[in-house]
Amino acid sequence: MIRRLPEEVVRKIAAGEVVTGAFSVVKELVENSLDAGAKKVEVEIKGGGKSFIRVCDNGHGMDEEEALLAIQPHTTSKIEKVEDLYRVSTYGFRGEALSSIVKVSRVEILTKKKAGVGVKLEVEGGKIKKVESDETIPEGTCVTVRDLFFNIPARRKFLKSASIEARMVIELMQKFILSRTDVHFILIRDGSVVYNAPPSDLRARAALVMTDVKVRDFLEVDFEKDFVKISGLVSPPGVWRKTRTGQFFFVNGRYVLSGELFGAFEVAYGEALEKGYHPLCVLKIELPPDKVDVNIHPQKLEVKFSHPEIVRSSLISAVGKAIKERIERKLPERGQTGVYPRPTERVETVRESIVELEKSYATKISPKEIEGLPRYLMILRDRYILAEDDEGILLIDYHASHERILYEKIKREYEEKELDSTFLLLPVFVNLDEVQKRVLNENTQVLRKLGFRCEMVEEGVKIIAIPSVLPIQHVPAVISEVIEELRTSTFKGLPDVIQKILADIACKSAVRTGDRITEEDAIEIIRQIYEEKLISCPHGRPLVFRLSYTELDKYFGRS
Ligand SMILES: Nc1ncnc2c1ncn2[C@@H]1O[C@H](COP(=O)(O)OP(=O)(O)OP(=O)(O)O)[C@@H](O)[C@H]1O
Ligand SMILES: [Mg+2]
Repeated sequence: MIRRLPEEVVRKIAAGEVVTGAFSVVKELVENSLDAGAKKVEVEIKGGGKSFIRVCDNGHGMDEEEALLAIQPHTTSKIEKVEDLYRVSTYGFRGEALSSIVKVSRVEILTKKKAGVGVKLEVEGGKIKKVESDETIPEGTCVTVRDLFFNIPARRKFLKSASIEARMVIELMQKFILSRTDVHFILIRDGSVVYNAPPSDLRARAALVMTDVKVRDFLEVDFEKDFVKISGLVSPPGVWRKTRTGQFFFVNGRYVLSGELFGAFEVAYGEALEKGYHPLCVLKIELPPDKVDVNIHPQKLEVKFSHPEIVRSSLISAVGKAIKERIERKLPERGQTGVYPRPTERVETVRESIVELEKSYATKISPKEIEGLPRYLMILRDRYILAEDDEGILLIDYHASHERILYEKIKREYEEKELDSTFLLLPVFVNLDEVQKRVLNENTQVLRKLGFRCEMVEEGVKIIAIPSVLPIQHVPAVISEVIEELRTSTFKGLPDVIQKILADIACKSAVRTGDRITEEDAIEIIRQIYEEKLISCPHGRPLVFRLSYTELDKYFGRS
């Protein structure tokens, strides 16, 4: 429930300028999405966010009454009393962000609660222009902010350049990507995808953000003492940057800038740290909410610890322990030549080789190797192609590979003109409701590009031509998938939606796992994935598992 805060709470809140630029708008909107329990948050900016910012989430949404209240000052669903201020677990608590944003820009809010009716709200410079219900809005919230400071020319003039604002938004998103590994984040800048980060572990997330260092070698921190818990990753001695831009600290999930933390972190490296250089880290510090005050900075970038000395010594011990363990573990390894790998290590190498393969596939296969394609050996369990080249053996998932090949083909066709289409001898009818019909009607161009020719009829749609790759039995399923995707296309952006639809068509058209394929088919699949250097299926699964002879020799103890 969203309520208006009592006067005394309002006075306690560290209010100040919430909206300083595009970056701060994105920050507030994403935090609201996370507070709404979103598992997917998509951010799109244009012109550094000065002309366009859109944040869409699949969180719990709002009904009309709540949405109208949310844009008023000092209305929040997150706290009620002064005491609540000292134990907030949400990012927001002031009830100020939305009301500040709507005052200085043109805002559209689309939102829907699980069992509720979707509502669309338009606000311009703080004035409500439109409130209407809209049944096509999916669950969640989508806020679009246009023309920041359009009504305050003096402040518009002081916005940073588009490229600087964009840089700040990217850096902001890096912090969310690192702190909330459980949430799928997407960042689109001027139409191209900067980040697409589905949930994954911290190491994978860090690798996405810190592309200049080998995050693989980072050391794990896992520490708990008194009321302080610290976990994360730190760079090993010797891996430095010249600035502190690679140091990320989160306190109870909130990114903080803190000289105290920077200092303590570096102390832990002792003499190993070279002068003028800085180690990197992603460290998450968890404290009971009453041991840290987050209400001292208008943008919540700084925090105050109730026991700074305990936090400091914990941080030094936590990081020190990780570094020391590394040094100790390294020592015995030196004298270990000729020792058989322990079983656990063996598993590790095989697993690593899959990861390695996925990463190095594109680079590994040089034109020279294409000449000598892997040799086809046999088909295993109606599922995998077994093949061999000079370096080792390969297992190729043929459903995934075929899917990827088809995906590339139809994507090319779509980009060039439209999918190759086949007219049906007998049309296929698909029953649709009114909303679905409307979506189809609004998107006839897109359907044509996808290789469908349709006519609307009373109870649905009559399909007279379909993409040539697509087996006819999958037409109804694909059509409803297409409608479902297009229905949300204003939320997700059309290019993404098209990509998803193409992937779906490819998946339905490819040979199934378990389908028999011939030797010729298998050889053709090998040829195509090698020639086109395809790494994974459109859903991101790997296509090839490679076991090198070196690895096998090592396993069997030959050297
Ligand atoms: N994406 C969203 N999904 C669901 N509810 C939202 C969303 N964004 C805002 N709200 C609702 O609107 C209210 C006001 O949001 P606003 O950001 O202005 O304040 P806040 O998050 O409570 O505090 P703060 O000003 O510190 O961010 C929130 O308390 C929340 O109930
Ligand atoms: Mg908020």
